[in-house]
Amino acid sequence: RIARTIAEFRQLSAELLSPYESPSFGLVPTMGALHAGHAELARQAVVSESVVAASIFVNPLQFGDALDLERYPRDLDADAELLESVGVKLVFAPPLQEMYPQGEPQVRVSSGALGTVFEGASRPGHFDGALTVVAKLLHAGTPAMGSYRAYFGQKDAQQLALVRRMVSDLNFPVQIVGVPTVRAEDGLALSSRNRFLSAEQRDAALVLSRALRQLAAQADAQEPLDIDSAIALIESEPLVKLDYLEVVDQESFVPLAENCRHSPFRGKALALLAAQVGQVRLIDNMPLSVK
Ligand code: PAJ
Repeated sequence: RIARTIAEFRQLSAELLSPYESPSFGLVPTMGALHAGHAELARQAVVSESVVAASIFVNPLQFGDALDLERYPRDLDADAELLESVGVKLVFAPPLQEMYPQGEPQVRVSSGALGTVFEGASRPGHFDGALTVVAKLLHAGTPAMGSYRAYFGQKDAQQLALVRRMVSDLNFPVQIVGVPTVRAEDGLALSSRNRFLSAEQRDAALVLSRALRQLAAQADAQEPLDIDSAIALIESEPLVKLDYLEVVDQESFVPLAENCRHSPFRGKALALLAAQVGQVRLIDNMPLSVK
């Protein structure tokens, strides 16, 4: 079932939830052009919830670059088919007019300091736009009864951290579930934008996950993190222009003190990076933890 309006979305989800005695509802927000990473979010939701809905909406508010927005891939039929195959019962695919009937919204979510670093520094306004639409989607999906969970990928780690903060800071009645990054066999994190990479660029991009794995292995071995050599590895690849690589606290994204470079790493952190490969901006991260 595909709902085009919020009213329809609520009516259809109420219908689908009604046979359950203690229903649970899962929402998987996406921008479409779905791949195996999105499918994994949906699959995990289907395992845990009575009814799962996915939303598909390419949100202009979070694109700084008009060209990026215009060429963002769209294929509703293929998306609906993939979602159905993993057990998603309902798709919310609103037209622009339904989400922003008065044009750009006056009142928005502000992502605060965490929204201005890393991806936020490279893409000003991006996280305010993303959080604003996530707030709208979470509200649109709120079930009349039962429990409510929404699923987000760790691939977009800063987005996930900000969504968690929004939900906690603003008391949204929903639980956020983070799903580990799905990778291609060679290590490249799946992304809707990977299709814009040439074979040569895609090959070059493998250096990104290799650098992250190198850091994760050092953390596992309780060795000091050699961030400089991870950076050097990426910079040895001429087709890849590194924007940032940093080891940060998993929640606050504050870079860990210099000392993790010199003494064995402890605690829970993320190795985080972004790079430009041709026309494509790629982000990736890996959790580092010492048990
Ligand atoms: P989109 O890029 O379509 O991603 C939708 C969800 O899929 C996000 O939670 C993202 O983290 C997750 N995802 C993408 N690639 C993944 C991978 N390789 N492994 C695991 N999860 C992955 O993120 C957005 O859309 C938008 O910003 C949105 C939240 C929908 C708001 O517009």
